[in-house]
Amino acid sequence: MQTLDKIADLRRDLDTARGQGLRIGLVPTMGFFHEGHVSLIEAAVHDCDFVVTTIFVNPLQFSVGEDLDAYPRDAEGDAALAAGAGCDLLFVPLPGEMYPSGSESVLTSVSLGPLAETMEGRSRPTHFAGVATVVTKLFFLIGECSAYFGEKDYQQLAVIRQMARDLSAPVNVVGCPVIREPDGLAMSTRNVYLSVEERDVAPVLNRALSHGAVMISDGERDAERVRTAMAALIDEAPVGTLDYVEVADPGTLEHQSVCSGESRLFGAVQFGRARLIDNISASDVSGDDDFTRKEVTAGNER
Ligand code: PAF
Repeated sequence: MQTLDKIADLRRDLDTARGQGLRIGLVPTMGFFHEGHVSLIEAAVHDCDFVVTTIFVNPLQFSVGEDLDAYPRDAEGDAALAAGAGCDLLFVPLPGEMYPSGSESVLTSVSLGPLAETMEGRSRPTHFAGVATVVTKLFFLIGECSAYFGEKDYQQLAVIRQMARDLSAPVNVVGCPVIREPDGLAMSTRNVYLSVEERDVAPVLNRALSHGAVMISDGERDAERVRTAMAALIDEAPVGTLDYVEVADPGTLEHQSVCSGESRLFGAVQFGRARLIDNISASDVSGDDDFTRKEVTAGNER
């Protein structure tokens, strides 16, 4: 695996790969890899002939007071995991390479519409504009490719899919399943911020969403009742502050009044320094059914 930090070198290597007729895979990341990132690289390696993984902690998608400076980094560990997963080229530009006049001088943005205005868009109003700018840049830099994004950031995936379609980007956007710890916690770089107590409690987010999914599979159609039940479980946890729970259309992400097995359940909770998000499909009640149903019963008893 080669590691590059200059756009000109990246373009040169991509021209060579394309000249050889290789199919390009792109895995955009902000580094500090865990199994979720590795699964994206593996998916790209499975589908493509030449896989580029990018590591860039993009200042534009953090607002003032967020964790840009504290965002964890591990250049050596990331390189080892990327190489082990079969990545061909690791692109790790410095901020000055991506934003030569400084990120505050970037004046062009993509207008994203309603998909970016709910949930994360409401809680972090400038976030998706920053994501869209850097992903658009990466799409321009890499050119025709398949690009891999995790469903843990389901709204981000939806926004990027829409953007790629609307702008006719020569990019096949591929969503990959959430990778979880054995207790259901979605893997996330920000999990390292959790204290021991917060780490113990954090799976409540996934349990609350699973609780909602079981309610829907048991016939509940009133989305507000599902939201209230999920929020109540999170509110009962000894630590963590609920930001939102949502029951939404999986395509448009619109807030639903009436839900179905197609609905998608979303949540965001602040645990100390860690703001965690998660989502599941309402049809996702398999796997740990007994456990989930026991949780529902316990929830109803309280
Ligand atoms: O999901 C992420 O890690 C980031 O938002 C992305 C897509 C790499 C853009 O910076």
